[in-house]
Amino acid sequence: MNDTFLKACRGEETEHTPVWIMRQAGRYLPEYRAIRGKADFLTMCKTPELAAEVTIQPIDILNVDAAILFSDILTVCEGMGQGLAFEENKGPILSPPVRDRAAVDKLFVPDPEDELGYVMDAIRLLRKELDGRVPLIGFSGAPFTTATYMIEGGTSKNFLNTKMMIYKDPDLYRSFMDKVTATITEYLKAQIAAGAQAVQIFDTWGGIFCPADFREHVLSYVKTIIKDLKEWMAGRGESVPVIYFVGSTAGLLEDIKTSGADVYGVDWRIDIDAAIKRLGGDVVVQGNLDPLSMFLPKEEIEKRVQDVLTRASSAKGHIFNLGHGVVPQTPPENVIALVEMVHRLSGE
Ligand code: CP3
Repeated sequence: MNDTFLKACRGEETEHTPVWIMRQAGRYLPEYRAIRGKADFLTMCKTPELAAEVTIQPIDILNVDAAILFSDILTVCEGMGQGLAFEENKGPILSPPVRDRAAVDKLFVPDPEDELGYVMDAIRLLRKELDGRVPLIGFSGAPFTTATYMIEGGTSKNFLNTKMMIYKDPDLYRSFMDKVTATITEYLKAQIAAGAQAVQIFDTWGGIFCPADFREHVLSYVKTIIKDLKEWMAGRGESVPVIYFVGSTAGLLEDIKTSGADVYGVDWRIDIDAAIKRLGGDVVVQGNLDPLSMFLPKEEIEKRVQDVLTRASSAKGHIFNLGHGVVPQTPPENVIALVEMVHRLSGE
């Protein structure tokens, strides 16, 4: 098996720097669009055969060193009892929005094998179909990022309703977050039990706070999850790496270091060597090319890949990735070239 990704997660030497791309299974690939033309997004998530097929597409097409399960961070919201729809060109709609005590009380902490069994079925199928080619990454949203969608009812610009709940009724926010945190913890355990070989916690919107609010309203819940996962894994005699990705990482690195994660995602708004230094040097990092640099000429992309590799050499381990998800307009040939560059330049 190509175990460069798992070795790098553990801080071990690898023959080249492993690379995978956030949102590697998606609309920039014509092969994805062909399947998506026949089924809507949620149907794809809920049909293990389709989810497995699009998960494997980027392994064949890009030659990346890890597969990430095709699903979405918002399926747990439906599992908790909230309505979920993806409307064409509008993004996710969560209904009704969670804004008061009655709405929080209606939510429940689901048994993941019951309410989200299709995810675990996809993982079990993928482990068979991948047959050891590359490791499989499972994932969830972090409690805060998930909660923003549940409170706002969808995507938001300034997170007004979320911040209003936090500042005006902190007790309500806390009891809501306790339910979301318990749900995500059980969900990630179920993914690991089904065969996920690493898990990434996406905190896309965690960076919208000042550091003190980040610690209290975002990070504390992530710490609870990681601590619980680690104890649970230790009891099972296994240790599956946990990656913590926060959007707008730069102002929060010292705090992120306390999360308990094995690997820290770094976005592109900071040089990765500066991030490594602030994290304390002896760390494993993942990142951090600007996703939009995929629109540069290939020679320019190569210069930037070399720059990230050189800067990241001061870390204990480095997993190459973009600083956030690949965007749908990206030319696939540039992503194919990116993976080849990372392998060639880091293997010399
Ligand atoms: O990385 C992968 O390839 C695995 C699959 C994956 C998807 N979403 C598929 C998807 C992963 C890991 C996610 C995570 C996710 N989903 C995040 C966190 C990471 C990030 O990008 O910030 C968030 C915030 C979401 C919520 C979400 N899902 C939104 C806001 C939207 C609509 C906007 C958009 O990008 O279209 C989605 C839809 C979605 N999730 C698509 C895909 C492939 C597009 C659906 C389609 O085909 O129409």
